[in-house]
Amino acid sequence: MSNPSLLILAGDGIGPEVMAEVRRIIDWYGEKRDMPFDVSEGLVGGCSYDAHGTPLTDETMARAQEVDAVLLGAVGGPQYDDLDFSVKPERGLLRLRKEMDLYANLRPAQCFDALADFSSLKRDVVAGLDIMIVRELTSGIYFGEPRGIIQEGNERVGINTQRYTESEIERVARSAFELARRRGNKVCSMEKANVMESGVLWREVVQRIGDTEYPDVELSHMYADAGAMQLCRWPKQFDVIVTDNLFGDLLSDAAAMLTGSLGMLPSASLGAPMDNGRPKALYEPVHGSAPDIAGQGKANPIACVLSFAMALRYSFDKGAEADRLEQAVEKVLADGLRTADLLGEEGATPVSTSGMGDAILAALEASL
Ligand code: IPM
Ligand code: MG
Repeated sequence: MSNPSLLILAGDGIGPEVMAEVRRIIDWYGEKRDMPFDVSEGLVGGCSYDAHGTPLTDETMARAQEVDAVLLGAVGGPQYDDLDFSVKPERGLLRLRKEMDLYANLRPAQCFDALADFSSLKRDVVAGLDIMIVRELTSGIYFGEPRGIIQEGNERVGINTQRYTESEIERVARSAFELARRRGNKVCSMEKANVMESGVLWREVVQRIGDTEYPDVELSHMYADAGAMQLCRWPKQFDVIVTDNLFGDLLSDAAAMLTGSLGMLPSASLGAPMDNGRPKALYEPVHGSAPDIAGQGKANPIACVLSFAMALRYSFDKGAEADRLEQAVEKVLADGLRTADLLGEEGATPVSTSGMGDAILAALEASL
């Protein structure tokens, strides 16, 4: 049998430097845990535009379809702001999501105990927080037609369309219920059924899937605006939140910041199972390309490292090895090591991007 394959698309800004640390961890698993991966690399985002005039070439797209998992760093930067919409760095990422049909985007918001004081909320509101947002990722207003900017009389009109089919709602609902069964067994679905027909259908379908297939999972519904409020008020009431593409974009940023550490959070985007039983999958940090600090050794590699941990768990069925990596991260944080985004406490030890990588590798070594 051949080794599992990984495609690394480090992207722009801090993407390459955080991915370099992940690369060392992948190599460590190959050497020390007898888990060799076939790693290939490609371009996505602005760097691909610079090289090829497109944020994602057809060759790279095809490669992404073949591998067992894609690891992505980050895309975008101010030098690309004025590019035509069709070739903006973000289009590369959206094309990957759409063509790989990665409909379930898992965004955990976990508060590391060592970092609870970085939250803008009080420690007791966030300490121990562990919620999972499941964001629908391939439909809704991000992709609905008609869209565009059209001329109407003497002014222009911007148009986007929110659109969900029942089967699109069903499959992401199932992802959320399945996850809940392996966690706290609760799902809260968020939409705006009070103003949007797509929300009425969303609520109805999620309820039906819950009643017929997951009666053991506790299901509740919330309007997304109230959900945003409850996330800030008492986030620990939630286990799994399932929501559409746009609400999920907003709610997951808010949830991420509750933990005080946007630089720490990973994500997994999963599609339907391939022939080998593995889901199509792309793993990426929730943070962006942070062009202001790129190339200075200031970036926090932990979100990208934890994205690889999610790959171990969801693509390679190596839950225990994912735990090992997550515990290594917890250990270095508990030891007071901090990249520039997390400085400020007394007694913290400042480290560079690669210094953080060194420490995580040392903690992995110590775990053997
Ligand atoms: C995200 C980002 C993307 C999105 C952008 C970069 C296209 O904000 O992954 O949350 O809006 O989905
Ligand atoms: Mg976003």
